[in-house]
Amino acid sequence: MKAEEPIEEIINQLYKSKSQMICGDAYKTLQDFDDEAFDLVITSPPYNVGKQYEIKESIEDYLSRQEKVIQELIRVTSENGSICWQVGNYVDKGEIFPLDIYYYQIFKKYGLKLRNRIIWHFGHGLHASNRFSGRYETILWFTKNDNYIFNLDDVRVPAKYPGKRHFKGSKKGQPSGNPRGKNPTDIWEIVLQDWENELWNIPNVKSNHPEKTGHPCQFPVELVERCVLALTNENSWVLDPYAGVGSTILASVKNKRNVIGIEKEKEYVDIAEKRLRDLKEGTLKLRPINKPIHKPKSNNKLTKPPQEWQNHSLFNKNGQNE
Ligand SMILES: C[S@@+](CC[C@H](N)C(=O)[O-])C[C@H]1O[C@@H](n2cnc3c(N)ncnc32)[C@H](O)[C@@H]1O
Repeated sequence: MKAEEPIEEIINQLYKSKSQMICGDAYKTLQDFDDEAFDLVITSPPYNVGKQYEIKESIEDYLSRQEKVIQELIRVTSENGSICWQVGNYVDKGEIFPLDIYYYQIFKKYGLKLRNRIIWHFGHGLHASNRFSGRYETILWFTKNDNYIFNLDDVRVPAKYPGKRHFKGSKKGQPSGNPRGKNPTDIWEIVLQDWENELWNIPNVKSNHPEKTGHPCQFPVELVERCVLALTNENSWVLDPYAGVGSTILASVKNKRNVIGIEKEKEYVDIAEKRLRDLKEGTLKLRPINKPIHKPKSNNKLTKPPQEWQNHSLFNKNGQNE
């Protein structure tokens, strides 16, 4: 996990990143972009579930339209770049169609390689009566090649028990973890949500969330941030072809990346631009990335970082991970 920078430094940097929201159709707009221009394409496409911004069509027609967009997205992704495709279910007469299963076939057809199928678990949502209530969506993370950007150290999360030691073998007695924290795994959940008083990771953006706008299915900035930090470098270019109210724009600019968002609804583009202005002025409410996951009891000695790590730059003088 990266140590926090002073706020003035963060705000200075925000003005250095290039960002643009384009109001238009994704497929048409993509025609103007250069090949391999982006290190990360990250998006949540329309799910064809009849939200206010889409007209529901047959799943076959929907997927064939998306396939054309995906071909363009692959073309504009750099050789060491990634595509993160966040989807849930299409539902027809009570039958669910997990969209990632359908999308996986499309990406494979064009030679992309799946690196993770990330489960994004959230605690709230509609209560179903004829099936179990759905509480997760997925993010398919594909790369174009085997040589791809992956900065694991930038997205590590605090270990629950950093004080654990090897109990046998040549490393017996040495700390067994990593002073930078642990791999966040492919299930993104369980960060203490103060105002809900329950365990979530990256909560889906519902009405009581500090990032909530007028968009019906906005994704949390924290979710995009993790992908941006892990899958791009500073000054990389990021693209969201279905940008909504600009969560990808915020996550990128906040982390010194350049970014373009495409969104067909002017109303959402305006909200995205306002959120970006608020971010730059330091007034946007955001849920911080990597909020502590779980607070074990303070008298548990495994929660104390090992003595050997006390001088590590990631620990402050109280022995806490920064
Ligand atoms: C699932 S939402 C994405 C929300 C976004 N991730 C956010 O955090 O705000 C999909 C978005 O795609 C937009 N959209 C649908 N069809 C589009 C198209 N052909 N071109 C560009 N945007 C489109 C919708 O208006 C909607 O805002």
